This record gives sequence, C-alpha cells and structure tokens, in this order.
Amino acid sequence: MVKDMSKIVVAYDGSELSKKALERAINLAKQDEKVELNVITAILHPIASIYNYGAVDAAHEANLEAAREMMKEVEETLKAIPNKTETYIVEGHPAQKIEEFAKNNNADLIIMGSRGLGGLKELFLGSVSHHVVQKASCEVIIVK
Ligand SMILES: Nc1ncnc2c1ncn2[C@@H]1O[C@H](COP(=O)(O)OP(=O)(O)OP(=O)(O)O)[C@@H](O)[C@H]1O
Ligand SMILES: [Mg+2]
Repeated sequence: MVKDMSKIVVAYDGSELSKKALERAINLAKQDEKVELNVITAILHPIASIYNYGAVDAAHEANLEAAREMMKEVEETLKAIPNKTETYIVEGHPAQKIEEFAKNNNADLIIMGSRGLGGLKELFLGSVSHHVVQKASCEVIIVK
C-alpha cells in the first residue's frame, strides 16, 4: 500500500483513536523504510480580551507545555521504526492546519481518528476529521 508514497502525516490529539492512527501509520511505514512519517498536533491560541489579559499567556504556555510532553511520548513510540520521522506542534485551528500542513509538505496520505477528545459521541465524525476528509488534497485514512 505504501509503494510510491513518500510521506504520511498523522493528525494527533492524544485521544485513543489518534493513538490507533499512529499505530496504523507505523505499521504502514514498516512496509517501506523510505516512507517519511510526520506527526502533527495543533493547538489553538486562547482568545485574549481586556478581561483575561495576562492569564492568556499563562494558559497558552501551559497548552504548549502539554503538547511538548505529548509529542515527547510520540517520539519515543516512533523510535520503533528506522524511517525518517518528525513531530510538529502548530498553532491554529486544527482542521485547517492539518489540511494546510499536508498540502505544503506534499503528503501522500493523512491518517487520523474518526473522533477525538470531543464529547458528542453520537456523531460518527468529529469536526476535525469531517473537515479534513472533505478538504484534503491527498488520500485520508480514518481509523475507528
Ligand atoms: N488538535 C488536533 N491536532 C491534531 N489532530 C487532531 C486535533 N484534533 C483532532 N485531531 C485528529 O482528528 C481526529 C478526530 O478528532 P475530532 O476533533 O474531529 O473529533 P472530536 O474531538 O470527537 O470532535 P470535536 O472536536 O468536533 O468536538 C482525532 O482522532 C485526531 O486524529
Ligand atoms: Mg476534537
């Protein structure tokens, strides 16, 4: 399946299904050492107003620190394969950032979960997977 592919992007939010997506990507990458694996997580900058000025910076720094910790664990997991791998923390709306990242980095495939950390479980797709599946310029695997 990964024949002729050069880059796989995993969208990772720390949810169980994103962990499953990462495992799926690792198993695919094992088929061909030349496939590069990029794992991306997006964090939203908290919205500042005159009322929360100052607290916003602290909240943002806490979010960034949590993302760094999460990606450190991902990097440990990625050591299992000899392929070139990279983790990225980007700031902005997750759906848009994942789509942009895949396009700008010429990804051949995006792997993500059907749902993430959000609450409304009766929907099959979360808002991020829904957007990416519709807008991505490459193939997408939705893990469920
Ligand atoms: N911030 C993020 N950064 C990277 N990938 C993400 C992020 N949020 C979600 N994803 C990816 O999208 C998949 C689906 O998550 P999504 O956010 O769409 O569902 P949800 O959290 O259940 O619903 P919603 O966010 O709409 O309330 C996740 O399994 C993960 O692969
Ligand atoms: Mg979500």
